[in-house]
Amino acid sequence: DKKMNIAIDGPAGAGKSTVAKLVAEQLEFLYIDTGAMYRTLTLAALREEISLEDEDVLTELLSRTTIHLEHEKKGVRVFLNSEDVTEEIRTNHITANVSQVSSHEGVRIEMVERQRKLAEKGQAVLDGRDIGTYVLPDAKVKVFLTASVEERARRRYEEQVEKGMSVNLEKLKQEIAHRDQLDSTRTFAPLRKADDAVEIDSTTLTIPDVAKAIIELAKERA
Ligand code: C5P
Repeated sequence: DKKMNIAIDGPAGAGKSTVAKLVAEQLEFLYIDTGAMYRTLTLAALREEISLEDEDVLTELLSRTTIHLEHEKKGVRVFLNSEDVTEEIRTNHITANVSQVSSHEGVRIEMVERQRKLAEKGQAVLDGRDIGTYVLPDAKVKVFLTASVEERARRRYEEQVEKGMSVNLEKLKQEIAHRDQLDSTRTFAPLRKADDAVEIDSTTLTIPDVAKAIIELAKERA
């Protein structure tokens, strides 16, 4: 079915993006990283020293900001206007501020419009927080991917150690829990499992296993 879209939502660090990338690759679907879009706006706002609490100014900033996801063999590159910001949007400074930026209704309405446009042809895998509940309520496959906060922090820790960063596991755990708290308590389109989403707890599963389960679901529903 050409109209099939796959929504993958869940808390921070559950493996959504890695799983989404794998699923998209294997099904030859388009992978749309919606978190990268909110991160890119956060970077633009921090650079312009805009107050992250000012909804109107942030919404205006977004209206004159191009966010482009470019798909390459090696993965997805993210562009702010025409600058490659793929690495910069993953820094701790962005991670610490992105929930504040993405809490504003005006920001979300514009982002969601862009996301729906990217997915309108179908055959897309989107990962985020509100894909199944708000962006694509009719998505054929909806997954809510979770893992214990300890496991999610442990995975982030290993990722960052591998990149040569100095990290503190307990601090990572607190940051993840704090971001989940902000994302699930905002008033507009909070992080929530859609009623018709299939919940997958990845605490004891490998990434390929999770991807396989999602591909099975997609095949059943095609
Ligand atoms: O997925 P990622 O961790 O990169 O998302 C960064 C942040 O962007 C989330 O913590 C959340 O605040 C915001 N986000 C969102 N809605 C989405 C995707 C991400 O609010 N669909």
